Amino acid sequence: MLLLKVLLDKLGIRQLTDEEDDEYFDRLEYLQRLRYKEKPISADEIERETLALDDRLQKLTQSNTEFTNFEGHINSKYGIKYDQDRYPTFHDYVSSLFLVDLLEQSFRKGAIKLSNEITALDVGAGDWSYCVSLLRFLEKFEGERKVKLIGVDYDGKNYTCSIQKMTEGLPVTYITGNVVYVPKEQVFDLLFVAHMVYAKYHCKEHKVPYIGEKRLFGRFFELLKPQGLLIMVAYKWAGEDAIFNNAPKDKLIVPPFSYYQPVKSLSDFFIERYSFDDNSILTMQKK
Ligand SMILES: C[S@@+](CC[C@H](N)C(=O)[O-])C[C@H]1O[C@@H](n2cnc3c(N)ncnc32)[C@H](O)[C@@H]1O
Repeated sequence: MLLLKVLLDKLGIRQLTDEEDDEYFDRLEYLQRLRYKEKPISADEIERETLALDDRLQKLTQSNTEFTNFEGHINSKYGIKYDQDRYPTFHDYVSSLFLVDLLEQSFRKGAIKLSNEITALDVGAGDWSYCVSLLRFLEKFEGERKVKLIGVDYDGKNYTCSIQKMTEGLPVTYITGNVVYVPKEQVFDLLFVAHMVYAKYHCKEHKVPYIGEKRLFGRFFELLKPQGLLIMVAYKWAGEDAIFNNAPKDKLIVPPFSYYQPVKSLSDFFIERYSFDDNSILTMQKK
């Protein structure tokens, strides 16, 4: 029995029991308290840390040929450029270039073709720091098309104002709500789900309702038109991609593969920083 438990743990396909889940959550809280020396980090400190990181990254990328080649390649193909009004930080902009590269790789592997007009839903969009790059990618991947992009987030009201400014004039809508309650009469050509929280302890940490993986996949496919695509991106380093083991196999079109950002000279910078580096991507299709 113990051996089986260890094996399932290693494969990342065992659901935690409620007790294990509570224990994991308590440990997480404890570690966080330790990190911030028993006092929560203030908004000012976060702001200072963010500005310092951005400053360092801007310096690292200036006259870095490896980066400028990569950036130039993505920019020219998808009409993306850094604009302070469109991205919360420079770091978010760079990270969004990795997302575009990651999506491009997956779409190529799956020989995916998008039609001339699509409506896409981003589930758990958060602060939507990559929204503009995601929109441009969908508009311009191997052709030109009209795209309507909608973001939904349980915690959306915290971000609505900044997102409205960031996406002014673009065919983009952002709503607050639980994906469980998006009316099923609304169906989409594509669902994009990145870093949404799935495990019970993780939902508790983020104060979002726990849905359960089976129900969640059911919901995602309910929201898709026939032949609609479900693209999921998850951190590898946090083991978030364990959810991929529970994806319905008959819907798989591109099995999960690992993505590491291609600008090796920036690797040290991205270790342990939230970005689309060190991710795994899974592509499915509603049959
Ligand atoms: C870690 S953030 C990821 C944000 C963004 N997709 C990214 O990659 O930067 C996860 C987001 O999923 C949202 N979320 C979790 N469960 C949700 C649900 N049932 N319905 C809608 N949003 C949900 C949370 O509110 C949170 O903003």
